[in-house]
Amino acid sequence: MADIHYPPDFVTGLQMQWGTGFLSSGGPAEVAEILDTVDVSGKSVLDIGCGVGGPAMVIAKDLGAADVVGIDIEKYLIETAQNNVSAAGLDDRVSMKLVEEGPLPFPDERFDIVFSKDSLIHVPDKSALYKEVLRVLRPGGEFAASDWLRGDDAEDLDGYKEWRSLAVLDFRMQTPAETETEMRNAGLTGIRTNNRSDWYAGIVAQEVAMMRGDEWRESFVNAFGEEAYEKKLAVRIANGRAAACGGLQPTHLIGRK
Ligand SMILES: C[S@@+](CC[C@H](N)C(=O)[O-])C[C@H]1O[C@@H](n2cnc3c(N)ncnc32)[C@H](O)[C@@H]1O
Repeated sequence: MADIHYPPDFVTGLQMQWGTGFLSSGGPAEVAEILDTVDVSGKSVLDIGCGVGGPAMVIAKDLGAADVVGIDIEKYLIETAQNNVSAAGLDDRVSMKLVEEGPLPFPDERFDIVFSKDSLIHVPDKSALYKEVLRVLRPGGEFAASDWLRGDDAEDLDGYKEWRSLAVLDFRMQTPAETETEMRNAGLTGIRTNNRSDWYAGIVAQEVAMMRGDEWRESFVNAFGEEAYEKKLAVRIANGRAAACGGLQPTHLIGRK
């Protein structure tokens, strides 16, 4: 069984930041932005690293996918996602599946679209995953994801180093060039990347303002205590600085089979 990186309290805190169902920034608008050039309506979609289900529900409900399968390696997340899906009345179109790291448990050409939001950063062997993405896509199918990449000179940037020293999660950071090479080697074509660092630094600034507000601060401190609040705020501020200096580069990745 996978190690637990997203325990219940951490997940609750993240959803307080980003809304029910979301373990990443930007909410429904950012999900739509990742899929901006992809026609999702009536399609079959795989969501890799679905977390607690927010993006998969947006893809089904707002973008009109025929069916969405969310996969994740953590049992608690999949159970929470399944509850969120049922509460939203989307059981007929959205399903959640607990998987192990490694080959995807689906037949060849199962999906029209493979999507992922801010989850590939945790995957140790991205080359192998991109090959699996290609395998489960039907010919002409599309890959659309956001991933956290690192600038070429990230290790020289104070903002990046400070964030890496504070961040609690296990991140596998790659540069845009490394990522594009791995996608191409896997067989994806028409590869495009869209650097979202400016957008991300802006949205983190808004989140920090919200977290400093009396209402949010009080509800978080009541749930988890003052020390946890100060730590979370410090990580978030450092995260924004890492993006603003170009060390951390949240990036959209697009490719086609
Ligand atoms: C930052 S969260 C994002 C979750 C969701 N995509 C969202 O935007 O709300 C990263 C997710 O990736 C999952 N994850 C980590 N390694 C994974 C792997 N090898 N395969 C699938 N999911 C993985 C984590 O369990 C977690 O749910």
